[in-house]
Amino acid sequence: MSTFASRNAFDPADVQGNILRGYHYGRVRHLILEVHHAAAARRWLGQCVSGHPDAPQITTEEHWTTRPASCFNIGLTYFGLKGLGASKASLASFPTEFKAGMAGRSVKLGDIGESAPNYWAEPFDDPSKVQLIASIHADDLVELDRVEQQVVNAGSGAAFILHTARDGWNFDTDHVHFGYKDSISQPRFIGVHDPDNHADGQPQAPIGSMLIGYPTEYQGIRYNIPQPDVLGRNGAFNAFRILAQDVAAFEAYLDTAADELLDHPLSEELLALGAEASFGPDVSRREAMREIVAAKMCGRWRNGVPLALSPTTPNPEHEVSLTNFNYEDNDATGCPYGAHLRRANPREAAIVQRAARHTRRLVRRGVPYGKAFDPAKPDNEERGLLGNFICASLGGQFEALMCDWINLGLEDPQITGSNDPILGANFRETSWFHIPLKSGKNINLQGFPRFISTRGGAYTFLPGIPAIRYLASL
Ligand code: HEM
Repeated sequence: MSTFASRNAFDPADVQGNILRGYHYGRVRHLILEVHHAAAARRWLGQCVSGHPDAPQITTEEHWTTRPASCFNIGLTYFGLKGLGASKASLASFPTEFKAGMAGRSVKLGDIGESAPNYWAEPFDDPSKVQLIASIHADDLVELDRVEQQVVNAGSGAAFILHTARDGWNFDTDHVHFGYKDSISQPRFIGVHDPDNHADGQPQAPIGSMLIGYPTEYQGIRYNIPQPDVLGRNGAFNAFRILAQDVAAFEAYLDTAADELLDHPLSEELLALGAEASFGPDVSRREAMREIVAAKMCGRWRNGVPLALSPTTPNPEHEVSLTNFNYEDNDATGCPYGAHLRRANPREAAIVQRAARHTRRLVRRGVPYGKAFDPAKPDNEERGLLGNFICASLGGQFEALMCDWINLGLEDPQITGSNDPILGANFRETSWFHIPLKSGKNINLQGFPRFISTRGGAYTFLPGIPAIRYLASL
């Protein structure tokens, strides 16, 4: 074992599951709980890690021999740690952004206007009530209900107040609202993933970029361990976000942009005459142009094929890798600098904040909620993504990404001042998105609204298993 690998060694039994490797169940239910009776809640936490028959057992990172009917994990907010009785000194040792909570950091995250915390759904509009998020992963509703009942029964019902349950479910084939295939790129970790299996051309990330207490990508830097050590070590931080997606507005914008582009003097640079045939049988020029706009905004065609490898068609002649690609030649005529994918992970591209490249990795565990949108029967029901964005430092990773890259475009001077066209806090009056062309010219899309708004969320700490035992013993 190399020196680095041995320093990186960790015990999978000490770490909650779904952080380093995903579960891939069909459904998730997040229970939003407030500690009602601290002693009962602590006792129940202890039962969740000691094989108690009436308590759901917390799933760890250990390998399975048989896939369980469900997995169960918990996250605690600052108020949750307080509610369970963590000492003042211990609470003070957590990072500032965690203590402030997601609502307290709203401006930095672009949670402004209708996305501001005072418009969030209950109980997220009162962060003091959001203390423990218990997440159940299963394939069917019966199992979700069974485990929920175990949580509700905790401490004979005295331990927690259940404020709300939020359900998400995976569409077939991993597509999400807006029609993109999602859950393709994830960081792969040294000592966890086999570097030869599904190699993605990205440097493997040290587990210190997700788990607290281990070396990070930054030379010589480990994030501070919240105290006592047993509480902080092997934990991770999570940004839980309820992100509503306005599918009707998104599809309407694709129509508008396609119409504008078809009349644009440079339209043939985007879609050569007759090239629509490669999009599928009977696909019109307008339909193909809509797909080009959707792909340019994301960085992938809606079927998941990356623009970096297939710049002009979603159906390349030869199969391409969905994960193994880069932007190292700094070309943006395939994937624009401002596309969601490239902002969120510039990979090998030259960026202004060079030292930040490969250091803001996030594990994404998101599942759609709400009915799939049917354009034939448009409705106003809420739908979107229940997202978990996991990292070792919310400030250094999640917030830096949301603020510097998604919303300010600080990675490249050519997009500075614009926001992510899909995810950004955009206003019709000021939004813009450059599509660089081979001729060296740009097409500039404008006038798109904010498509994704925040309906709630919380910063949680995902304690390791020894930490849960410690909390139970307080
Ligand atoms: C409803 C909200 C969102 C939608 C619809 C969305 C959509 C997508 C899609 C379609 C992909 C490509 C699939 C893949 O590569 O796995 C993607 C990738 C990604 N997204 Fe998002 N996203 C959303 C929110 C976010 C947020 C809040 C963040 C973080 C701040 C984020 C960060 C990323 C990252 C890091 C990648 C992978 C980039 C790479 O490694 O190449 N996304 N997203």
